[in-house]
Amino acid sequence: MTQLLNVSRAARLAGVSRHEIQNKIGSGQLETFEGEVKITDLLRVFPQIDLDRDPTFEHLEKIKANAQPKFPWQQNELPSVEVLLRRVQTLTGLLVQTKSKLDRNVELLENVTRDVADLSQEKSLSANARDRISSLHQVLTERPDAGDLQPNDAAILFTRNLLLHIIAPNVQFIPSGHEFLVEGGDTVLDGAIRSGLNVTYGCNDASCGGCKARVISGQVVETRSPNCKLSDHEKQMGYTLMCCNTAVTDLVLEAAEINSPAQLPGQSVETVVAGTQELSDDMSLLHLKTPKSQNFRFFAGQSATLALNGGARTTFPIASCPCDGENLHFHVPKPRDEQHYDEFHDLQRGDSVTVSGPVGDFVLRDDSTNPTLFIACDGGFAPVKSLIEHAISIDKIEAYHLYRFASPDMTAYYDNLCRSWRDAFDNFNYTERELSGDPAAAMSAIADDLPDLSRFDAYVAGPRMFAEATKRTLVENGLPADRLSFEILPDREFHLKAG
Ligand code: FES
Repeated sequence: MTQLLNVSRAARLAGVSRHEIQNKIGSGQLETFEGEVKITDLLRVFPQIDLDRDPTFEHLEKIKANAQPKFPWQQNELPSVEVLLRRVQTLTGLLVQTKSKLDRNVELLENVTRDVADLSQEKSLSANARDRISSLHQVLTERPDAGDLQPNDAAILFTRNLLLHIIAPNVQFIPSGHEFLVEGGDTVLDGAIRSGLNVTYGCNDASCGGCKARVISGQVVETRSPNCKLSDHEKQMGYTLMCCNTAVTDLVLEAAEINSPAQLPGQSVETVVAGTQELSDDMSLLHLKTPKSQNFRFFAGQSATLALNGGARTTFPIASCPCDGENLHFHVPKPRDEQHYDEFHDLQRGDSVTVSGPVGDFVLRDDSTNPTLFIACDGGFAPVKSLIEHAISIDKIEAYHLYRFASPDMTAYYDNLCRSWRDAFDNFNYTERELSGDPAAAMSAIADDLPDLSRFDAYVAGPRMFAEATKRTLVENGLPADRLSFEILPDREFHLKAG
């Protein structure tokens, strides 16, 4: 039986990115059958797949390790016993079908072997024909016993794929075609959000009905009882609530997605300060936490307005990934001197902050897989970090080129994080430079590294002088102007020296 794998699963089994699989499909090295690839073709194109190492089991271990309490947004767990049993039950049907086909083939082979034996004794045949039939009979009877068979590579991947069905069913949304795996104890909605999809939902608490989606194929199971009930008609139509159901099998769901920042609802969420941390001499991290049932929704790269009880308000880029709308990170520049006292620097754990928005259109192009330049100056790293984290989670970009510039009196904080991205991903390049003198000269250095920018997208965040010099230089060096997005942040966040 030919085993077909969707792109997510093929990537997981081969231990490569989805983008790499899509590249092989695009270049014709991998043939697709309604969007899926054959296990045998996967083994041919990725002969380096390590069959002695089982990434599915390793993944299981990782889920278990993550189940230990760490940071709230990193918690994950195994599916409940009930969910695991339901998934195992659905796979028994496939195994019964496969075993039935195998038994039927063995029976056919035995019949053919018997007929060939009879034929080899047929006196009316020529001696030459009888010899050839005898040879064929010998080949048929010399089949090794099933117990002597070494499992072949395709069979090993077949069983791993079965295990992956139990641990992480695949969900495809229509009409967008977006795909993701539902891992651990996640609901369908958790899986969609974690994988960076901007799906339509409301409370994430089974109360509002905002996450309704229609099951086109596959099975779901409730992870908790919903407070809001679907009507009988909706149930008959196959509707389900994604925030209180998980996948039993692979699913195709008709679900509404938000495609642009303009479609996001305006929000105002009461948060508390979960912590602050000094990132450098110039910058602090402010970590705000929303109520569980009222996550803040935004596109990577957008900003939010923070308001304090005393009336102070300011707008900061959100520095974290929209895949975790409960934990919002902001990089808060330190006041330059005592005259520039900033109340946002005095915030303490437990203080209340109202977060409203989001605002801004410095967001990833959803349709692009181009190699991408991310250029950040000083505090411009905050929205760029959010973009990169989101891009990594949706795994579509061909190559990342991150350039960070620090003005002479600033430090490029989170340098270790950038280095860890470079170490973790083969297609991630990271360069850090001090910005001295004319920003255009620094941009020329990028053009020297990447002489042909015609296939690139670029995202630039920094003060106006920096962003404008960057735009000019990159476009002069071949970057299509419509592939460049930039976010100009107030100079107070950069301490950038003019001239
Ligand atoms: S998001 Fe409100 S019911 Fe699911």
